[in-house]
Amino acid sequence: MMCTMEKLSSISEDSICQLVDTFYTKVRADAELAPIFEAAIHDWQPHLDKMYAFWSSVMLTTGRYKGNPLIKHMVLPGITPELFSQWLRLFDQTCNELFDDDISAAFRVKAERIAESLKLGIFYRPDRPWPPQPAA
Ligand code: HEM
Repeated sequence: MMCTMEKLSSISEDSICQLVDTFYTKVRADAELAPIFEAAIHDWQPHLDKMYAFWSSVMLTTGRYKGNPLIKHMVLPGITPELFSQWLRLFDQTCNELFDDDISAAFRVKAERIAESLKLGIFYRPDRPWPPQPAA
């Protein structure tokens, strides 16, 4: 218990900024994800500021983020379940580049849970199989 607490307490607002900046640089260079982001975001700094606050709320429980991510993602043109896998791959890759294994794992667990709940909110329909079947 002690160990985990000590390790996780080395997550700081600074390391979150670094993660967010590095991750969205990768997103903007990704052939599949970039078009969706570039269509929705014209001024990147406010988005990055929001994401610093979001991850600060998630990892440091600071309550800095106020918002409704599900509604924002529901209306994004071109969003698919498969793109979430790509998003998570880039996020995980970024964490591994920047952090020790246990900090990376702590971010990954949160990101995967939030991604799953966003996917359920966006794509789940009671009359269709879950997880969604790839288009034939
Ligand atoms: C396919 C995967 C994803 C895509 C294409 C995507 C795309 C976007 C875009 C374009 C925005 C800006 C929306 C706007 O300002 O109108 C946004 C906002 C946001 N995204 Fe994602 N996203 C994805 C996955 C995720 C995941 C997995 C998380 C969390 C772990 C996340 C967290 C957020 C948050 C917190 C915001 C800010 C919402 C607000 O305005 O309050 N996104 N996303």
